Amino acid sequence: MNGQVRGVQLARLLGQWHALPGRRRSPDYAALAGSVRGLLADGRLPLGVRLPAERELAEALRISRTTVTAAYRHLRETGHLASRRGAGSWTMLPGNHRVASTGLWTPLDDREMLDLGVAALAAPPQLLSAAQAATEDLPRYLSGAGYHPTGIIELREAVADAYTARGLPTSADQIMVTSGTQHALDLVLRLALTPGGTVLVESPTYPNALAALAGRRARITTHGLAADAGWEPDLLLGSLRQTRPKLAYLIPEFQNPTGHLMPASLREHVVAAAHAVGTDLIIDESFVDLAMDGTEVPPPVATYDRHSRVVSIGGMSKPYWGGLRIGWVRASAPQVQRLAAVRVGVDMASPVLDQLVAVHLLADAEAIVADRRVQLAVQRDALLGALAHRLPEWRVTVPRGGVTLWAELDGPVSSALARAAEEVGVRLAPGPRFGLDGTLERFLRLPFTLPAADLVEAVGRIAAIRYDLDRTGRQRWRETTVIA
Ligand SMILES: Cc1ncc(COP(=O)(O)O)c(C=O)c1O
Repeated sequence: MNGQVRGVQLARLLGQWHALPGRRRSPDYAALAGSVRGLLADGRLPLGVRLPAERELAEALRISRTTVTAAYRHLRETGHLASRRGAGSWTMLPGNHRVASTGLWTPLDDREMLDLGVAALAAPPQLLSAAQAATEDLPRYLSGAGYHPTGIIELREAVADAYTARGLPTSADQIMVTSGTQHALDLVLRLALTPGGTVLVESPTYPNALAALAGRRARITTHGLAADAGWEPDLLLGSLRQTRPKLAYLIPEFQNPTGHLMPASLREHVVAAAHAVGTDLIIDESFVDLAMDGTEVPPPVATYDRHSRVVSIGGMSKPYWGGLRIGWVRASAPQVQRLAAVRVGVDMASPVLDQLVAVHLLADAEAIVADRRVQLAVQRDALLGALAHRLPEWRVTVPRGGVTLWAELDGPVSSALARAAEEVGVRLAPGPRFGLDGTLERFLRLPFTLPAADLVEAVGRIAAIRYDLDRTGRQRWRETTVIA
């Protein structure tokens, strides 16, 4: 069991359930049951949560208890609810269906394929000169053994300075360099989580974070993001208070995959609620540099932290290049020392040469990041234009930063579409990859990291097969498989 949802919370999630399209043709109980099923399918209502008692929901929705009783009965019959007399009713999917969302999620080396499965840019032109400058610096390090478990001091200082410039005073001893943000997450989990510990994550979220959590045998509980508005403050804070997870993993800046940006007020409240219930926060800042349209990014979540509850992780992959494999953790100095001790049992240290390349790139950060933002805005707009032209039924919320948009499709066809797309040379990451339970079939993540012309071409191919899927009916439906 994942906790429970209260009557007022469910009422808020259900929103205008009584005024949905086609509503006039169905009785109240069926419309209510249909809306609950919709919330489950979209991942906004997690599996395994206890629904409010019938009377409580009836009061919250201002409808008769008989309607709620009939809706719950209907949900039991369709396999979306399990009830035990006197104990309550829990959400489920028919046949106890659960699709593993973790597994290998790697980029392809097939150059013919338009790869929309990976949300990362090619290297910036400045990378080569940074690499050349780094080789010139290397002799300074060659007289030592080359192991720096917390990272070379120059890079730790550069990363600390970047935090300070964002309004969060940071010293080099609060920074540990890692081999990518993913590595940073894994190390933090090794330190902070025992097997079976509960971790709250957003749904949808970054699939490789789910893989890292599965690797540490975390018990995962979710906060469903609304497609248009993102985090629902009352529900997120309520989940923290009810579930009291050991950790929460959040991506507040241009969340992967939805692109949402968490407002300052919620950041402050999340930190306060986490502290009150003893939850540590892992804040993934992978996309923090990539704001567009003049969007102002609120202060770092750690700004509101007075009790060393927040560990921030980030890296070079999104603004610069994933091939560098450089990331970092920002935590208290003692936590950094503990992480370094864990790390010695994993990979000892990150490569010195790559860290020097990172130092040179960060020295030129202003110009490089400005170029990236312009490039991403052009590509995003090309993608949005192609979608509006070729797939006008799909709904998208325009992301104001980051590298991905989260499209709401015209049916629960995301996995079928991804399989069909492979056949026309487009690789897609279907919605269920970003959730836990095989839900999110009505969503698709689309990164805008490829050149504009490739994005337009990819959307054209996707549109063609989308209409083919309708013609070939249900033949393409199969179980979701691991995409490797
Ligand atoms: C939210 C998030 N965290 C972590 C990563 C992994 O980043 P890195 O390449 O720095 O390991 C990614 C990459 O897509 C990401 O989107």
